[in-house]
Amino acid sequence: MRTEYIRWDSKNGYTDKDCERAADILRSGGLVAFPTETVYGLGGNGLDKEAARKIYRAKGRPSDNPLILHISHTEQLEGIVREVSATAGKLMKAFWPGPMTLIFYKDERVPYETTGGLDTVAVRMPSHEGARQLIEQAGVPIAAPSANTSGRPSPTRAEHVREDLDGKIDLIIDGGSVGIGLESTILDMTEEIPVILRPGFITKEMIEREVGPVRMDPGLIGSDASRKPKAPGMKYRHYAPKAQMTVYEGESERVIAKICEEAEKYPSDKVGILATEETRSSYPHGQVVIAGSRAKHTVGQGLFAALRSFDHLGVEVILSESFSDDEKSEAIMNRLMKAAGQHIEYLEESEYVQ
Ligand code: TXA
Ligand code: MG
Repeated sequence: MRTEYIRWDSKNGYTDKDCERAADILRSGGLVAFPTETVYGLGGNGLDKEAARKIYRAKGRPSDNPLILHISHTEQLEGIVREVSATAGKLMKAFWPGPMTLIFYKDERVPYETTGGLDTVAVRMPSHEGARQLIEQAGVPIAAPSANTSGRPSPTRAEHVREDLDGKIDLIIDGGSVGIGLESTILDMTEEIPVILRPGFITKEMIEREVGPVRMDPGLIGSDASRKPKAPGMKYRHYAPKAQMTVYEGESERVIAKICEEAEKYPSDKVGILATEETRSSYPHGQVVIAGSRAKHTVGQGLFAALRSFDHLGVEVILSESFSDDEKSEAIMNRLMKAAGQHIEYLEESEYVQ
């Protein structure tokens, strides 16, 4: 299949015909990749079983891993979910449109192909103008996982989508770099106390300010393999560059010293280092890739692109700083640790005592 390309930008939007073309493809069962404020999504008609199957096939995604339905106005909830609690209503008012996904019991009109066989359905209303216009024009809820090959880092630029899906889907909308760069926060609203199944830009504290206590899915915390995360997608190996990655956690100078020491064990072109603008000049040996700036809080935005670039560099091992000091650290560290296969070294002070 030949993949078509069109553009959207925040100043000029789409040309009208372009948006119509993309919406037509969605309505007739085809697949369109589009930018959202979090990451690029791979969209198909969420009420069409065949479209859902095509999404799984294009991504190489296990079919028990459910998709998120994207809507452009709250009236669309009717017909896809069974009921909306008062708490969910408050969260929608506070954070929609925006990077928050809510899980409800599904209406029977939503096919099990979309929900990976579950009786619940995940719904999100993105704030990205191009995404909203597309969903509005399509007139159906759009099922959209991140537009990457299953297991690879989520795409934050159209060229990442092209790398993974060119020739496999009908159309790619190039909307430049996305703003947030990490996927939405997922909250399970079917429990008495809402449960965070995936941390994101909207933090636990922000949610608790609106609705009181919420819980973190115990399957996300620590590396206890006996606890399975409740969002099926969180159990898969994910975001992973081809090379083995280790994260070093500790006081900054110690981390830099340890990474330099480890890097020396490899030829410079075979060792990757994941660093920040602030620390880039501290590494004389190895292929240094910058996720972003700690001071400007751009690490989350640049993380996935940085992980992808290690594959292009062809390094054999990756040594990464830890980013647990950022205000969005829960979401950033969750993705980083998955990319590293939970491989972390804590640098205790005692290790360096003379
Ligand atoms: O920001 C985002 O959420 C992006 C953009 C495109 O909107 N989408 C995204 O979709 O990240 P995806 O498919 O890559 O991740 C969806 C996650 C998976 O971990 C999946 O298992 C979980 O949501 N999920 C979906 N429906 C669920 C349900 N009914 N119950 C539990 N987890 C669910
Ligand atoms: Mg994904």
